[in-house]
Parts: sequence; C-alpha cells; structure tokens
Amino acid sequence: MRALTVIPLQAGSLSVTDVPDPQPGDGELLVDGLAVGVCGTDKEIANGDYGWAPPGRDRLVIGHESLGRVRTAPPGSDFSPGDLVVGVVRRPDPVPCGACAHGQFDMCRNGRYTERGIKELDGYASQAWTVETGYAVKIDPGLADVGMLMEPTSVVAKAWAEVDAVGARAWFAPRTALVTGAGPIGLLAALLGVQRGLDVHVLDRVTDGPKPRLVADVGATYHSDGVDEVAAKLRPDVVIEATGAGPVIFAAMANTAPYGIVCLTGVSSAGHTLPVDAGGLNRDIVLENDVVIGSVNANLGHYAAAAEALAKADIEWLGRLVTRRVPLEQAADAFTAGPEDVKVVITLDGTSS
Ligand code: BGC
Repeated sequence: MRALTVIPLQAGSLSVTDVPDPQPGDGELLVDGLAVGVCGTDKEIANGDYGWAPPGRDRLVIGHESLGRVRTAPPGSDFSPGDLVVGVVRRPDPVPCGACAHGQFDMCRNGRYTERGIKELDGYASQAWTVETGYAVKIDPGLADVGMLMEPTSVVAKAWAEVDAVGARAWFAPRTALVTGAGPIGLLAALLGVQRGLDVHVLDRVTDGPKPRLVADVGATYHSDGVDEVAAKLRPDVVIEATGAGPVIFAAMANTAPYGIVCLTGVSSAGHTLPVDAGGLNRDIVLENDVVIGSVNANLGHYAAAAEALAKADIEWLGRLVTRRVPLEQAADAFTAGPEDVKVVITLDGTSS
C-alpha cells in the first residue's frame, strides 16, 4: 500500500512510498485511512527538524491527525466494521513513569513516550493502518468530512482542562478569553471558549482571507491590531496562546487580569531572543497571582471532551476550517502554505473534494 513517509531529520526526504500492508494484532482494529490533517509539527518533520523513525528503520510514516473507517474489529470489542475512528497519538513510556502509569501519558515525565507519526511509531498517513482498540476513539458518523479535526481539538480540550485545573485553586469565574493566533488550534480554542459561555477574542495578523469571518461566525470577536494594544484593552482572564511567537507570548503574559492564566500551546523554534522587562513581568505575575502553563498532547479523557465539543459544534463551520484537500499522491502540495489555508488535509481514499 501507499503511505506518506519521511527519513526523520533529513530535509527533502518526504515522499509517498510503498510500505507493507498492515496486519492487525490481537486486540487491534484494521482501519481504512480516510484523511489526515497537516499541522506545524508535520511541517517540522518534513523540514528535517523533528521526528524519530521506528527502531531499526530509516523511514517513518507520518500523520497524526487521523480519520479512518474500521475494516475489521476484534470480536467482542466495542467497534464494528464501518465505524468512523480516530487513532490516539501518544503511547505511554515503557517504564512507565507515574503519570503514564495513571493514563496521563500526555504528562509523561521521562520523555520516553512514543507518538504515532512523530516519535518511533508509524503514523496514520497511509491507505490502511492498525490501532489498538484502547487507543481508538469512535466518532459520530456525521463528522465523516471533518473528523480529522478531532486530534487538534483534543489538544485544545486539554488546554482548557489545564486552565480549569489551575483556576480551581481559588475562586474562579472567568469572563474574557483572548486566543492568540487564528490557525486551526486558535479557532478550535475559540470554539471551546464560546461553548463555555466566555466572551472570546481572537487575535491574528491577517485582515482578509477566511479567518476573520470564521471567528465572527463562531461567536467571537476578531482583532488584527497590535497584541500589546489589544491585550491591554481586554485584560483577559484567560489567554490561550497558539502562535508560539515570542513578542505575542510576552505581551499576553504582561496584560492579563489579576489571577490571569496564560496557557501556551504553540511549539516555537529555539534561538530567537528578545528584550523583556523581566522585573516588570515578574512583578505583575507575583502581585496578581498569575499563572503561565505549557500544554501539549492529550489523553483519552481529552479525546472524549473533544468528541463532545465537536458533536455540539456547527458542522458547516467545522467544514470551513478544512480549506484544502490534497490526494495522497500529491501530498507534498499540502506542505506548501497557500494564502487562504486554515487546515489542509491529505485524503487517503482517492477523493480530493
Ligand atoms: C501533536 C501532539 C504532540 C506534539 C509533540 C503536536 O503537533 O498534536 O499530539 O504531542 O506535536 O510531538
């Protein structure tokens, strides 16, 4: 069968190659791939900056924002042929650390976790794949066109759960949330914020293209002015940061309401320095009991929360997040940014519409 593979840490190695057909083991589903979403991490892997091949192999099948249809399921499992499923990205480390031993593999402490399509395990950008039933999440048949948004939604569901957990250390009744960045993570963070009844504001640089309208149509307010100005005016109770851009991160941290919580979700590259008023920032954070948290990945509970959020969302709005669908054989095109892109998807079943 055909799969999108890469030699990790080797720029220019991304290609669609023949790989052996997957053979389901005990307790595993065999799944026909429908689509995978492409995100910043996939682009980093394709650029040769990130990623690990499975032990003893050169090439890694990439793709972690999965969507497929069950072809075969183990008897007695909760799955049947025809079910739409998403495969979970991360697996616990083999030790396991305390967090992984408690099902909190998203909080792995020793870094020895593995990730489908990213770290030592083949991903989901192939015509068929297998997955353990315990790491497969069934999704509503109505989400057949947008189910690949489940994984980024799980990342956002975790970010909001982190905000809740940190907020719960004292009285917490947030009203205003600022989401920085109107890419898929930012837009999905806005969706979940609106679903929580918050007054949500989304900041991005662009003034045209689909983003301003997507923000308005989800029930949030779009801003394209400077981050300092917008954050200082709003004084948000919560910031979900989804740009990974230094100046945006520090402006957000400096302008929260007292007891503000900033949740960082953007993975940035190292090596950029910028002047910061460290004393002023520290003073603000201390005197306001502010918190800055990093958040990555998602565990099974977050996938369940994501499934709930997607089921409640306007399916037409979700469909508008997927701005381009590229067939597997042309997958390289999905890695070149187009001006109107929000989420670009690679289709695995021969369709491209
Ligand atoms: C994925 C996460 C993963 C992280 C780091 C992100 O793009 O959504 O599931 O943990 O990359 O590898």
